[in-house]
Amino acid sequence: MASASTHKFQVLSNPEFLAEGTAINDLLFPSRVLIGGEQTPDGLKAIQKLVDVYANWVPRDQILTTNLWSSELSKLVANAMLAQRVSSINSITALCEQTDADIDEIARAIGSDPRIGNKFLKASVGFGGSCFQKDILNLVYICESFGLKEVADYWHQVILMNDYQKRRFANKMVSTMFNTITGKKIAIFGFAFKKDTGDTREAPAAYVMKDLLEENAYLSVYDPQVEREQMLLEFDYTLGVNKKTVPQLDEYVITAKSHIEAVTGAHAIAVLTEWDEFVNYDYQEIFNVMSKPAFIFDGRNVLPHDKLREIGFEVYAIGKPIVQRF
Ligand SMILES: NC(=O)c1ccc[n+]([C@@H]2O[C@H](COP(=O)([O-])OP(=O)(O)OC[C@H]3O[C@@H](n4cnc5c(N)ncnc54)[C@H](O)[C@@H]3O)[C@@H](O)[C@H]2O)c1
Repeated sequence: MASASTHKFQVLSNPEFLAEGTAINDLLFPSRVLIGGEQTPDGLKAIQKLVDVYANWVPRDQILTTNLWSSELSKLVANAMLAQRVSSINSITALCEQTDADIDEIARAIGSDPRIGNKFLKASVGFGGSCFQKDILNLVYICESFGLKEVADYWHQVILMNDYQKRRFANKMVSTMFNTITGKKIAIFGFAFKKDTGDTREAPAAYVMKDLLEENAYLSVYDPQVEREQMLLEFDYTLGVNKKTVPQLDEYVITAKSHIEAVTGAHAIAVLTEWDEFVNYDYQEIFNVMSKPAFIFDGRNVLPHDKLREIGFEVYAIGKPIVQRF
């Protein structure tokens, strides 16, 4: 058997850019493949080997080769820039609600500029998922370790803005519901961090629900994919909310088997994931079984707000002009 010292190794960096829910498609038709390696003869040879593998299905001009640091940082910066876009549009929602501006109109207007582009401009209750926050924190850490405090602070602000957005949404719910939600039942539509996945990591719903729990509301959660156990794991792991810190957790947080069960007797609905089925519900039926006044807080701006107001709902939507009727 040959001794280990006769073998030469090269370490390559090959970050993946697969998003949950579209991973197979992203793998089959990647926008780009990134391969980083040492810029030495052996390193370049190793890079070429991996290029040849991808070239079986990816056009060559979409396979980018770089040095190791460029490749590793590109991964972090791609996610940081995407998250920054979300935080940027979300920061403007707060301003919209103070004025008469509509965030969807602004997103359309600015997105028509090809230099800005129209992707990733959907306002929301905040970004989540396993990647954005982790990668930004990673970037912040690297900047700090090189003494680049201003750069670290700049990127950290993207996370602070996201935290602000989640908190702002919960605060808005409380203030709109006459400054108290103590003892009120609130239906939570969606717990997953985005639609078409059961992933709950860093889900904005967890943060909003924690704030509502602190106000002593009863929460009835309906998500088409997320199991109760998974939800409780996320509460505990990310937020330290468990049966020890909140002894009445099982009483205050209920998982409903259907959306109708969740809304029956509820004073409000909070839409925290943009599942397609939420848009297609019979909201007249929902209105009929809710306590009045019946509030809807649309954290994803996916529902037909005018139609809901016609039915009789009090509707709050992120970054939309406030329509108050009472
Ligand atoms: N999820 C993984 O396991 C994984 C692994 C490796 C790399 N990545 C990288 O991380 C990135 C993020 O992946 P992800 O799975 O979190 O999915 P994602 O990019 O679809 O979602 C991340 C966040 O952005 C929000 N978002 C999505 N589309 C938006 C839009 N049009 N406007 C505003 N906000 C929007 C989502 O609600 C979510 O909060 C991927 O693009 C990929 O490059 C992900």
